[in-house]
Amino acid sequence: MSKDVLCLGIESSCDETSVAVVKNGREVLSNVIATQIDIHKKYGGVVPEIASRNHVENITYVVKEALEKASVSLEEIDAICPTYGPGLVGALLVGLSTAKAIAYASKKPLVGTHHIEGHIAANYITHKDLEPPYLCLVVSGGHSHLVHVKDYTEFEILGKTRDDAVGEAFDKVARVMGLGYPGGPVIDKLAKEGEPVYHLPRTYFENLDFSFSGIKTAVLNLVNKEKDNININNLCASFEEAVTETLTTNVLKAVKMLGLDKVAIAGGVSANSYLREKMEKMGKENNLKIYYPELVLCTDNAAMIAAAGYYNFMAGKISDLNLNAVPNLKIGD
Ligand code: KG4
Ligand code: ZN
Repeated sequence: MSKDVLCLGIESSCDETSVAVVKNGREVLSNVIATQIDIHKKYGGVVPEIASRNHVENITYVVKEALEKASVSLEEIDAICPTYGPGLVGALLVGLSTAKAIAYASKKPLVGTHHIEGHIAANYITHKDLEPPYLCLVVSGGHSHLVHVKDYTEFEILGKTRDDAVGEAFDKVARVMGLGYPGGPVIDKLAKEGEPVYHLPRTYFENLDFSFSGIKTAVLNLVNKEKDNININNLCASFEEAVTETLTTNVLKAVKMLGLDKVAIAGGVSANSYLREKMEKMGKENNLKIYYPELVLCTDNAAMIAAAGYYNFMAGKISDLNLNAVPNLKIGD
C-alpha cells in the first residue's frame, strides 16, 4: 500500500484565517477556521486592512491548533499548501508568508494553491466517489464561474460574471434591505417565509456569461419606491428565484453542450438551500448527478485548499519559495 500523503492547507484570502490537515486529498484530519465575520459586520463588509491585521494575530495559533487537532507533527506533513490568489493582497500575504516560513524551516515542499480550485476541491472531501470530468458552478462572494473540470488540475472556464459575483449581489441586496452582512445566510432564511411575487429581470448572453447587476438594481429601485410597503420575505424569495434561474439555465446549457452527466456547485453561495433544491430538481429532470459540499466546506476554509493542494502536489506542481500573492489570479494559472 502506498504511503498516505498529508497536506497542510493555509487559507487567508478574505476574512477567515483557516488551517487544515487533509489526508490524501479527501479525508479531513482537522479544519480550524477563525472567522472575522463579527468584526467586519459593523462596517457592512470586509475591510481589507482590518482583515490583514486579524490574520496576523490569529495565524500562528490556528496553525498550532490544526496540527494538534489532527494529532500530527509538522515532520509528518508532506506538503505546505497556502492560497496564493485570488483574494485581498494583504490578507493573502499573511497565510502565504506563514506557509513559506514553515516550508523553508521544515524543508517541506511549498504548493501554492488557487482559492477557486480549492472551492471546487471541497466536493472531493464530501463526495469520495467524485472524479473529473464534470461541470462546476463556482458561486462565491468574489467569483461566479462555470468551470469545466477536465481533470484534477485541468480547468476550462466556460462562462463568468460580467459584473457582480453572485455572493456580492446577495450581500449588496441584503444591505439595501437593511439585513446586515453577510447577506447570503439571512436572505436564505427569510426567503423560506416568502413567495417570489416581485418580478425581477434575468440577463442572458449568447455565451455562458452571467450578469447580476440588473437584478440587484431592480431590488434597489423596488426598495426605494415601495419603502415600508415592501414585503422583505417576498423580495428575498424573488431575488433568490431570479438568481437561481439564471444560474441553472446556464448550467443546463453547458452540460448539454459538453455532454457531461455530473454537476458540482461550490463556493459560499453553494450553501444556499433554494439553489441546492433547484439544482437537485434540474438533476432529476435531466439525468444529472448533482454534488455540493457539506455546509462548513462551502464558505472559506483551509481543508478545501489542502484538498486542491494535494492534487497539485501529486501532479508535481511545486512552487518556488519566491511565490508571491496574486490578487487577481486566473483559474488554471
Ligand atoms: O466562498 P466565500 O466564503 O468567500 C469568497 O471566496 O468570496 O463566499 C462568501 C459569500 C458571501 O457573499 C455570502 O453572502 C455567501 O457566500 N453565502 C451565501 C450563503 N452562505 C454564504 N449566499 C447565499 N446563501 C447562503 N446560505
Ligand atoms: Zn472563497
